[in-house]
Amino acid sequence: MVLNEKLNPTSNPHLPFGDQRGAPFYGKDILSVKQFNRQDLAYIFEVAHEMREMVTRIGTFDLLKGKILASLFYEPSTRTSSSFTAAMERLGGSVIPINEVKYSSVSKGESLPDTVRTLECYADVIVLRHPEVGASAEAAKYARKPIINAGDGVGEHPTQALLDLFTIVEELGQVDGLTVTMLGDLKYGRTVHSLARLLSLYDVRLNYVSPEILRMPAEIIEEVDGKDIPQAEHRDLEAVLAETDVLYVTRVQKERFENLDDYDAVRGLYVIDAETMTRAKAEMIVMHPLPRVGEISMDVDDDPRAAYFRQMEYGLYIRMALLAMVLGKA
Ligand code: NCD
Repeated sequence: MVLNEKLNPTSNPHLPFGDQRGAPFYGKDILSVKQFNRQDLAYIFEVAHEMREMVTRIGTFDLLKGKILASLFYEPSTRTSSSFTAAMERLGGSVIPINEVKYSSVSKGESLPDTVRTLECYADVIVLRHPEVGASAEAAKYARKPIINAGDGVGEHPTQALLDLFTIVEELGQVDGLTVTMLGDLKYGRTVHSLARLLSLYDVRLNYVSPEILRMPAEIIEEVDGKDIPQAEHRDLEAVLAETDVLYVTRVQKERFENLDDYDAVRGLYVIDAETMTRAKAEMIVMHPLPRVGEISMDVDDDPRAAYFRQMEYGLYIRMALLAMVLGKA
């Protein structure tokens, strides 16, 4: 078998009946949002809609019956890991959960390529979260089965960005014409790295509000600039709050700081509370990938513009859609 050869119709002639060999994402890795165009996104959202309807109507169904997902998390997770598990189980499949790598052979010093080669003997798709940038791409080089990046250090979090974009579409009807303000830790927050890239496929204005030491990386600003998207950086949210359609709040990523004094200097700098919301548009949404650690006060939770809990539910449908697609069933 050729290294790096992925599942695809030519290398896998023995597909069970019902597999859609021409499906665009069949056998593909999901490593970065850079791999998607607008047409792909429209397709993913269409499948996610179908998933929502099926879950609402019948709860659990058999689309991925007999398929196995290996869920390999080298970093903590609540939403991403549990929503992928729920997604697989709602589709009738099952999951090998490796959430505590310290209890696996990783703690004996096993390399990522070997761990991935092991899991693909038992599973049809691998979801991977890892502290190093590029870890999923590295794993994908060795794996024949699809790898889904569930966060690679400060790099990307493509499935989160897909669910974030889906949230925007569902809540506000469209993406073109919107002003999106990202707030908080734009340096270490991988979700905003993926989201800024994904939004650059649309006609949007982007504001980045952060402390000086947590600015959006220059590499991403340049990439987005290459798509002719207006971008502006600010230290003060008030400068852009009134024009904002989507306020995307992030946690300061304490675990990424080398020096905790730096963390202490910037924690708690931005807090959205009910009083802040009085200066926001009547029709806008507040999003957060969660967990929150004080950036959004609980007195915002009952505001209809607070979309962060609904955002989690959209994540289930997006992850169901992605699993069905990479396994050739959508
Ligand atoms: C995010 C992550 O892990 O990057 N969480 C998530 O997946 N919803 C954001 C964070 O940890 O702050």
